Amino acid sequence: MREGPTPTDPSGLSTAVRHALGWLLFGNAVGIYLSVLLLDPGWQLGAWTYGRWVPVHLNVQLFGWTSLPLVAWLFSIYQVDRSRLAAWGPAAVWAWSAALAIGVLDWLGGQTSGKIFLDWKSGALWAFTAAQVILWAVLAAAWRERSAYWPQLRRAATLAGLGGLALVPFSLVFAASPKVYPPIDQTTGGPTGSSLQGSALIVVGLMLLLPRVAALCKDSRRRPGIWIFFALSWIVFGVTEAMGGTHHDPHQIFSMLFLLPWVWWLPRDWRRFEWPEGSVAWRGAMFGWWGMLVVTSLAMYRVGVLDRIKFTQALVAHSHMAMAGFTTSFCALLIVLVTRRRMGPPSSVALWHGAAFAMVLVLAAMGWMEGAHPSWMLASPAWRELGLLVRTACGALMIGASLLWYLERRKS
Ligand code: HEM
Repeated sequence: MREGPTPTDPSGLSTAVRHALGWLLFGNAVGIYLSVLLLDPGWQLGAWTYGRWVPVHLNVQLFGWTSLPLVAWLFSIYQVDRSRLAAWGPAAVWAWSAALAIGVLDWLGGQTSGKIFLDWKSGALWAFTAAQVILWAVLAAAWRERSAYWPQLRRAATLAGLGGLALVPFSLVFAASPKVYPPIDQTTGGPTGSSLQGSALIVVGLMLLLPRVAALCKDSRRRPGIWIFFALSWIVFGVTEAMGGTHHDPHQIFSMLFLLPWVWWLPRDWRRFEWPEGSVAWRGAMFGWWGMLVVTSLAMYRVGVLDRIKFTQALVAHSHMAMAGFTTSFCALLIVLVTRRRMGPPSSVALWHGAAFAMVLVLAAMGWMEGAHPSWMLASPAWRELGLLVRTACGALMIGASLLWYLERRKS
C-alpha cells in the first residue's frame, strides 16, 4: 500500500518523550524530598507539608512519567508527526504538561479531592480535561488524514481506539468525583482481590497489544489459547467483582490466582516477536518485575499477612515494585520502540533496577517489622531510621540514572 508524503521532524513524539523524562526527574526529586522529610521533618518548606507533597509525587509519576510515553505511542500509531497537523503534536504535549503543573500548584496549595491518583479538582481538573480533549482532537485529525493510506483492519482498529479514548476524559471526571468509590475489602479498607485482578488485566491487555502493534511477528501460527484465557479471566473478574468480599473469601483469592499463568504466558508470547536493539534489558527487567509483582501480591493477599502489613512501608514497597519497577520498565521499553533509540547507557539501566530493588527490599522488611508492633511510632528505633536512610540513598542512585536519561534525550 503506497504511503503519503512524510514530514521529516517527528517533533510531537520526541516532545512527549522529553516531557515524560522531565516529569520522571521531577517526580524522583520530590520522592527524595519526601524521604528526607521522613528522616527530619525540619526540612519542611512553609505550608508545603509532607501530606501536600505526596499527591505531587504520585500524580507526577502517573500522569507525567507513566502517561506521556503512552501519548508518544499514540502519536506513532496515529502518525501525528506525518500528518499536516504535525505542529499540533508538541502543542498537545505542552498543554498536558501545563495542566499537570497547575495540578502540582493546586496540590501544594492543599486543593485535592483526597482520592489517591485522582486528586484532580476544580480548575486543575478542567485544565487537564481540556488537555486530554486537545490531544484527542489532534489524534482524530491525524486519523482522518493518514488512515486513507492504511489497510482496512488498521483503519477500523484505530477508529475504535479513538472511540475508547474519547471516554477517558469523562471517566476521569467521573472517577475524581467525591461521590464515586470502587468496591473495597471491608476488613482492610483496601481493594478487593477481584479489583486487583481487574486492574492487572488492563495491564495484561496492554502487554498483549504492544508486540502486535510495535514489533514484527516471527511465528504466524494461530494460538487462540491465550485469547480464550484472557476472555475467561475477564468473566471471572466480572463475577467475583459483583460478588464482592474480602481476603477471607476463597472466591476473592480464586480471582487473584488467575493472574499467575500470565507470569509465564506473556514472556512466552513476546518471544514470538522480533524486538529492536536496545530493548532486551528493558524487556527482561519488565518481566522480572511483573513476575515478582504477581507472586508477591498473591502472597500478600492472605489472612494474617495483609492484616499485618496494611498501612506500613510494605505497601510502599509494593507500589514501588509496581511503578518504579514494572511500569517504568514498560514505559522505557515503549520509548525504545517508538523512537528506535536506546534509553540510557546499560550501566544506568542496571543502576536504576538495582537501586529500585534494594529500595523495595528495605521497605518490605521495614513494613513487616512495623506490622509486628506499633511501638516504633513512639521510639523511632535505629532499624527504622537506617531503613529510611537506605531508601533515600537508593533514591539518590535512581535520580542519577533518570538524570542521565533526560540529558541524553534533551540533546536530540
Ligand atoms: C527517586 C526515587 C524515589 C523515591 C526516593 C521515592 C520516595 C517515596 C516516598 C518517600 C513515598 C511516601 C511513602 C510514605 O508515605 O510512607 C513514596 C510513595 C510512592 N511512590 Fe515513590 N519514590 C521514588 C520513585 C518513584 C517512582 C519512579 C514511582 C512511580 C513510577 C513512585 C511511585 C510512588 C507511589 C505510587 C507511592 C505511594 C505509595 C503508597 O502510598 O502506597 N515512586 N515514594
